Amino acid sequence: MKKASMVSIGAYAPDFILSNFDLEKMVDTSNEWIVKRTGIHQRRIAKNQTTSQLGAKAAEIAIKRSNIHRDEIDAVICATISPDHFCMPSTACKISELLGIKNVTAFDISAACSGFIYILEIAKAMIESGLKKNILIIGAEKLSSIVNWQDRSTCILFGDGAGAAIISARNENHIIDIHTASDGSKGELLITPAPGSANPMNQQILDEKLFCMQMSGNEVFKIAVNTLTNSVINILNKNSLSSSDINLFIPHQANFRIIDAVKTKLSLKDSQCISTVHKYGNTSSASIPMAINEAYEQKKLKKGDLILLDAFGGGFTWGSAILKFGGKDF
Ligand code: ACO
Repeated sequence: MKKASMVSIGAYAPDFILSNFDLEKMVDTSNEWIVKRTGIHQRRIAKNQTTSQLGAKAAEIAIKRSNIHRDEIDAVICATISPDHFCMPSTACKISELLGIKNVTAFDISAACSGFIYILEIAKAMIESGLKKNILIIGAEKLSSIVNWQDRSTCILFGDGAGAAIISARNENHIIDIHTASDGSKGELLITPAPGSANPMNQQILDEKLFCMQMSGNEVFKIAVNTLTNSVINILNKNSLSSSDINLFIPHQANFRIIDAVKTKLSLKDSQCISTVHKYGNTSSASIPMAINEAYEQKKLKKGDLILLDAFGGGFTWGSAILKFGGKDF
């Protein structure tokens, strides 16, 4: 049976930088508050680009770094909560069109900040079942389009960007394990209330900006820390590994304090962790592939290294994955 491997990675962040000082002019906040509470200094904003355009840019890099021609890609899967269109066509279909990838399976999934781990699991299952050979997975977000720029409790947190990877059939097993899960009972704590079948489009949605993200930050914070920690403990135990066996821990980049708390609970050293939240903010499904890309470009990965991914997001959803870096593969 063939095994699934991540054979390349790519990422793209739009050029425009929105700093904390810029936000000071927009809402009642301060650079000091934002840095102290979140670790975020700036975020990127896609002024004239769509989510699919960000995703296609990241995917171009991932395709170029792989030995795979775009004609050999047999599925395109995009994780996003800020799709080009809320119903159809899917952002994956639009990315395929932008890349010139024709006649392949293409669809979106919605798992908020855990989206990349969810699509990694789907791609692994499709490959290991023999259904597909080369899958392009993309986490892409234009969160600036669903942020209420008058709400200081959320608008300081989010940014735009995309990350992509090619998952291919190989003889060796480089995606060692993945676990995903959810808890729908807490959905209201992190929500875009409308429009949707629960609240079809009406004037109130526009007036009250109900299409924007709303979050009970403090409650989400506590649940995120515990869930992220337990998710890692479970996957490490299942694979008879300990945190000291991990070369690089790449968590979802929501808040420096969340990453720090999880790191401490798991006894991980600073040198084992990647953090990009200071420069990109929370880019939801894009944050993990953007951080993997950063580790790759900064040559922090060596052949045989074990990489641990960990995410938590709206839904609630969460997931962890253990990958082995194949060296020449990426
Ligand atoms: N500037 C200044 N003051 C602010 C700001 C701001 N931008 N935002 C809130 N405050 C104030 C509040 O009004 C409150 O004031 P009060 O005490 O007078 O009522 C005070 O600061 C403290 O507010 P808290 O919400 O308790 O602040 P907290 O320390 O929890 O930090 C934050 C807020 C950064 C949002 C944090 O709770 C957090 O990171 N939460 C989790 C985010 C997350 O992980 N989300 C999951 C993934 S996202 C996804 O799935 C799309």
